[in-house]
Amino acid sequence: MTNDLKSILFTEEQIRARVGALGDEITRDYAGKAPMLVGVLKGSFMFLADLARAIGLNCEIRFLSASSYGYSSISSGNIKIGDGLDFKPAERDIILIEDILDTGRTLTALKELLAGFGPSSLKICAMLDKPSRREVPIAADYLGFECPDEFIVGYGLDYAERYRNLPYIASLKPDIYL
Ligand code: IMP
Ligand code: MG
Repeated sequence: MTNDLKSILFTEEQIRARVGALGDEITRDYAGKAPMLVGVLKGSFMFLADLARAIGLNCEIRFLSASSYGYSSISSGNIKIGDGLDFKPAERDIILIEDILDTGRTLTALKELLAGFGPSSLKICAMLDKPSRREVPIAADYLGFECPDEFIVGYGLDYAERYRNLPYIASLKPDIYL
């Protein structure tokens, strides 16, 4: 599996430190509140699991599913939100938790959808950002790391459903996905 990797971008230690700092920041910003962490499946599952443990607040954890990539490495721009919502965002402090901001289409669509339910507040926390790829203007309120325009895997991120279990964040060799 590791033969498919080009390089390790962020190690387990770097991720742990950054996620801890994000958790502290969110804990301070939401003091006295009970934010609802909404993980975007499936890529955010590992980040959310660690971030939730770094947040010292009484928070609610929810998931929704959105997909754009399927089995290709090219974003279709066609965002699918699976199975609707099984929670009520109205009058809640929502933090959308996403693995990576790429073109920005997924989070723009999800933000619009959730905003329609009238939450008290709505922020975005993304583990990674590939700013050079942005097609629609959107930024994370809380961000782990900026990363280069390469195909990224590990720590929840997949290529064709593989590599999600790598404990670090790495780039994939182009001959694997091109
Ligand atoms: P966007 O709508 O183009 O911003 O796409 C965001 C989604 O595409 C993310 O939630 C990921 O699931 C997926 N994605 C974008 N870039 C990568 C990558 O480098 N590796 C794995 N998945 C990616
Ligand atoms: Mg995703």
